[in-house]
Amino acid sequence: MVMNLTKTLLKNIDNKEIISYNVRFDNGFEVEILNLGGIITKIITPDKNGNLENIVVGYKDIESYIQNPSYFGAIIGRTSGRICEGKISIDGVDYDLAKNYNPHQGHGGDKGFNSKIWDVKILEEENNVILKLYTKSLDMEENYPGNLDLCVTFKIYEDYKIEQTYEAISDKTTLVNMTNHSYFNLSGNIKRPITDEYLKVDCDYILELDETCVPTGKKISVENTPFDFTKEMLIGERIDDNNKQIQIGCGYDHAFILNDTKNQIKLNDIISGRNMIIDTDQDCVVIYSMNFPDDVELYNGNKTQRRYGICFETQAAPIGRNMCFIEDSLLNKGEKYIQKTIYKFFVN
Ligand code: BGC
Repeated sequence: MVMNLTKTLLKNIDNKEIISYNVRFDNGFEVEILNLGGIITKIITPDKNGNLENIVVGYKDIESYIQNPSYFGAIIGRTSGRICEGKISIDGVDYDLAKNYNPHQGHGGDKGFNSKIWDVKILEEENNVILKLYTKSLDMEENYPGNLDLCVTFKIYEDYKIEQTYEAISDKTTLVNMTNHSYFNLSGNIKRPITDEYLKVDCDYILELDETCVPTGKKISVENTPFDFTKEMLIGERIDDNNKQIQIGCGYDHAFILNDTKNQIKLNDIISGRNMIIDTDQDCVVIYSMNFPDDVELYNGNKTQRRYGICFETQAAPIGRNMCFIEDSLLNKGEKYIQKTIYKFFVN
């Protein structure tokens, strides 16, 4: 395996160094991850003509990643998605969480795992490079109980594959539901909207959202709805349908319940020939079609535009009305949380 690993110091904040770790293989496959929030800034793959381009949405400069208003590429925790009104109860004790997604909590609160500077260890194996990111989240940080030890592993394989493992262990019963918040766009360097790309998801039900975008606790069959991706469908085909759930999300921003199979998600861009498969052990994927872009400059010189990226947030069901699905995010004292999600890229 011929591989280049480059570490670049990008900035010092609060006496901590923000470093990018760039892994580049001889075939052009390149992955770049920051110790800040474990943010994936680059996944470079060839299109059908061999052009190497970035297939994740990213900012132009590090300052924007420090703010990261849309959580580009970041590790999300302790909990992904919204928690209804920021109210949780664990072992009979109530906790009030920050309502940073007014009136709900979102993506772990005011300072989620996306804003932590993680310690990084690098390991090299025969056909892959491993970046292990470690950090802690202290008892009552963001008002969640329990000291939490965290490790996120990115195993980057030469043959266009990234295996992610999220691990956590707490000294008190708490909530953990982690994910990655990359916005994919297979056109390369964010050239075309993701409504041009085809999606297939092995999912028969989504979680119904109320008007404020949290789950009601009900499931809706995808049959005859814009959420039916059981057969490959153009993302743009029904994204603006006259459908209540679509209107609530202003597009896709819903938890799709995944069938217990392998390779549940497939994204296909016919024009570039790039394809991507996601395999996860998680129950759900929240698919977010970038319905609300921020106003920050991207690496390609443009500002983000609506629907120029799509997130596949593999996770447990988000916590909705009446704390529905809270049990899916509970981590008992001393037990180990593990979630595994694999991204595979290829050309057709
Ligand atoms: C959420 C969206 C939110 C976006 C950026 C997504 O994971 O589902 O509702 O707008 O993150 O914060």
